[in-house]
Amino acid sequence: MAVVDLRSDTVTRPSAEMRRAMADADVGDDVYGEDPTVRKLEERVATLLGTEAALWVPTGTMANQIALKAHVRPGDEIIIGKDAHCWRHESGALAALAGAQTQTMADYRFTAADVRAAYKSSDDPYLSPTRVVAVENTHNMAGGICWDKAQLAEVTHAAHALGMVTHLDGARLWNAAAASGSTELELAAGFDSISVCLSKGLGAPAGSLVASTREVIRRCHRLRKMHGGGMRQVGILAAAGLYALEHNRARLGEDHANAHALAVALVNAKNLTVDLTNVHTNIVMIDIVKGTADAVIGVAREDGILLGSAGPHRVRAVTHLDVGRDGVMRAAKVIADIAATLA
Ligand SMILES: Cc1ncc(COP(=O)(O)O)c(C=O)c1O
Repeated sequence: MAVVDLRSDTVTRPSAEMRRAMADADVGDDVYGEDPTVRKLEERVATLLGTEAALWVPTGTMANQIALKAHVRPGDEIIIGKDAHCWRHESGALAALAGAQTQTMADYRFTAADVRAAYKSSDDPYLSPTRVVAVENTHNMAGGICWDKAQLAEVTHAAHALGMVTHLDGARLWNAAAASGSTELELAAGFDSISVCLSKGLGAPAGSLVASTREVIRRCHRLRKMHGGGMRQVGILAAAGLYALEHNRARLGEDHANAHALAVALVNAKNLTVDLTNVHTNIVMIDIVKGTADAVIGVAREDGILLGSAGPHRVRAVTHLDVGRDGVMRAAKVIADIAATLA
């Protein structure tokens, strides 16, 4: 029986059509700014997000890190939500490469009042001046939850009123848009820089972009080179990104419906809990009440169901374009059966 891989939406493989678009891509040396396909993708993403410019980078990590580094000086502080990817899952890059410290809010999503309470000015030499507010939408470790458009506006206004800049980790902004009914343009409004990924739900093999003003992108361009991300005939990958934006964005709702079906199928299962109200997009967090996440993941693997761990008692399942409804329902049965046997 075919393996159902729900570890992440990064596991998708490029389709035959995407590979054809890659093979046919018109390319040039992107370090010289001469790759026409990269330039087309950068213009397309800048238009979608309503920014002056955008820059292709190989990974979401590099997109976040160079954007944040472009905003801070060593010793500055960045406000982030609980378990933000740029802090938890980027190998300490904020400390190592940007030289910034973080102040983590109590929750994944936070309010304008939280921002005002956390802010520290640069007037006091004892304090680390708070320069940036970074938001993650959708929020990965919170299970792909979306921010409300009004809450985003309040937070970005509060940050700007205090002279701070705002960054959006929009690795899955496409999912947030598909789930909330707001456009990417609306969800990006109010942010001084935005990172987006093409290699998650959109199914491209690699590629992310930073979108911002021409001035910030100019700084990011230099930082990309400094971080070793200046690549040459990378239009081959940008072509996959263009294909993904055109063909795979509109179908994200299917992944969300599959995640919802998985969650519903598990709601009454024994020895685990799933909070349906937090299943907004393509991620389902399954809390194992008895036993460990690793035990469930290990047995599920033997049954051809691959799952991720999001903590000692938390299993993460992510739907994507390479898994259909049948696979998701098979996964639900396997997970429920395993959980039922836990002592
Ligand atoms: C919210 C978020 N931001 C950034 C990234 C980093 O992307 P990459 O794996 O391409 O570095 C991820 C990866 O899963 C993510 O979930």
